[in-house]
Amino acid sequence: MKFHSSVFKDESKLDINYVPSRLPHREKEHRLLMEFFSFLLRIPDKMAQRVIVTGDIGTGKTALCQRFGEDITIEAHKRSINLHYVHVNCREYRGKLFLILQHALTVLKPTFPQRGYGAEEVLRALLQHLDEENAYMVLALDEFDSLIEAEGSDAVYNLTRLQELRPNKPQRISLVCVMRNLESTKRLDDSAKSTLQRNVVRLERYGKAQLIDILSERTALAFEDSAVPEEVVGFAADLSQDENGNARFGIELLWRAGKYADAQDLDAVTPECVRKAISSIIPTLQKSQIEELGLHEKLFLLGTAEVFLETNEAYATLSEIEEAYAVACEEYDEKPVSHTQLWKYLQGLSVLGFLKTEVSSEGTRGRSTLIYLPAVSAEELAKALRLVIEQGTR
Ligand SMILES: Nc1ncnc2c1ncn2[C@@H]1O[C@H](COP(=O)(O)OP(=O)(O)O)[C@@H](O)[C@H]1O
Ligand SMILES: [Mg+2]
Repeated sequence: MKFHSSVFKDESKLDINYVPSRLPHREKEHRLLMEFFSFLLRIPDKMAQRVIVTGDIGTGKTALCQRFGEDITIEAHKRSINLHYVHVNCREYRGKLFLILQHALTVLKPTFPQRGYGAEEVLRALLQHLDEENAYMVLALDEFDSLIEAEGSDAVYNLTRLQELRPNKPQRISLVCVMRNLESTKRLDDSAKSTLQRNVVRLERYGKAQLIDILSERTALAFEDSAVPEEVVGFAADLSQDENGNARFGIELLWRAGKYADAQDLDAVTPECVRKAISSIIPTLQKSQIEELGLHEKLFLLGTAEVFLETNEAYATLSEIEEAYAVACEEYDEKPVSHTQLWKYLQGLSVLGFLKTEVSSEGTRGRSTLIYLPAVSAEELAKALRLVIEQGTR
């Protein structure tokens, strides 16, 4: 019996919960967070901090906070400061403050009975426990919007003004509030807003070059050497940039593409594996959308699909596609349209999202336009096109 080999060396490195030891292109933001909380390493009882981390989906908010949490905890422990970083996803607790605090407390004190307390009582128990242990806590409230939605201004205000409930006692709890945009803070009243919004760490969307770095590092951890060619990483980066610079999208895409490679017993992940993966994440093109195209647009797309089936690459040039288009025309007894007309098809099809273009920056022949299929496997596309063309020409 032949053993199945795999392109993966350790696929858990692509898991949604894995926190890499380094976050490329978030060094500045990491340093800023460490700076905001540096008092914890010197005078932890003298103050508490509140910071908002914000950015679009997949910009690394959760990963950054968790990386920061581990790092600050290590630094604190080196100085014999008893610091706990607790990361709670508020949405998992339906934004209920009582459940969120109860979770935070049971992380520190697993024996805490889970019933019949209100948010205030749990908070008191939490502070009491921290006092007893002479401990400090950074509480990261991820998906903070759902807490605002569920609890409104008062809860947030109380949470940010914890210390006023206990004057002359050491400060114990700092907050990191993680949210996609600051829109939902508009629902807070002015005092809650002002206590919260002083320190904001904003994560900008990743660009292609940054996504390449992030995906390359992750690929090196998760895949066997040379199982993911550079071109494939670049392709995945292009596709995640199309998804608003969402790094999570790229990571999941590579994981799925690896699964397709394994299923076909390939030694390496190919662009077609990536295209199959993406069409399983994003719903594939509707047949009706294809039907609405003109015959020569269909033939042009068929040529494109055939090029990718033939070359197994991620990108193609217009002249390659033009040749394949001519072959497709011959096959269906059609006279090819002009080069200028094909350019127009290319623009139109890219507006419709059937294909995408990207201007190459390198190469000895200077800049040229490269074409790729964003959301469908070449094989599926060719099959669907032939079906529709044959129905139409019969
Ligand atoms: N700079 C980075 N370096 C390495 N991995 C990253 C980076 N930014 C994001 N990721 C990874 O991308 C995925 C999405 O990031 P995540 O923190 O969940 O985004 P968000 O919480 O903003 O939606 C995670 O797997 C995360 O590890
Ligand atoms: Mg997140």
